[in-house]
Amino acid sequence: MKKIVQITIVAFGLLLIIGSTASAKESVASLRGTADIEGASLKVTKKKVISQEGGFERNYKQQPPLIPHKIEKYKITLKNNGCLKCHSKKNHKKEKAPMVGESHFLSRDGKKLEKVSTRRYFCNQCHAPQLDANPLVKNEFEGVK
Ligand code: HEC
Ligand code: HEC
Repeated sequence: MKKIVQITIVAFGLLLIIGSTASAKESVASLRGTADIEGASLKVTKKKVISQEGGFERNYKQQPPLIPHKIEKYKITLKNNGCLKCHSKKNHKKEKAPMVGESHFLSRDGKKLEKVSTRRYFCNQCHAPQLDANPLVKNEFEGVK
């Protein structure tokens, strides 16, 4: 009789252990950490935009170059593109800025256009400034040298 009780206790203990590891697997690791999902999000810290003279090195030939300056003041609307004040064919020399790539003047069918193609109008769709911040997840990307 004593033995049966012991076995049942051991079996019950095992069940508890199995049960607890199964529920531990179900919890998902989140970048929010242990912050409650209903709670307010963590206050975003302001990060410094990196200004890099001479620009950032590209990782591969066709990469849209990273933006080496602040962009918060340059708005892009349907009527006006703040980036083209410096980067257009007309203004880039005066502003001592590099002109948008030749590819920016090609239509969908490869026709050369006078103005920047509408496909290249929203600059920050492809070009991004860089912040002085630690990456949230490890990035193992290696560029083609
Ligand atoms: C006041 C003028 C000015 C404005 C406005 C401006 N830029 Fe620039 N940009 C520059 C200058 C000057 C450089 C070159 C910096 C250097 O190489 O040191 C540059 C560099 C760049 C480069 C890097 C090019 C390369 O080959 O590395 C990109 C991309 C770029 N800008 C995108 C943008 C975008 C997108 C906007 C609008 C959100 C913008 N710029 C607005 C002056 C400007
Ligand atoms: C659809 C993606 C895309 C959009 C939108 C785009 N670009 Fe680019 N940009 C590129 C790529 C890719 C390159 C590199 C290849 C090349 O020069 O065409 C580039 C190159 C550049 C360069 C460097 C040119 C050189 O000769 O080194 C500048 C400056 C630039 N873009 C500015 C801009 C500005 C300003 C806008 C908005 C008016 C813009 N780009 C919109 C993809 C894009």
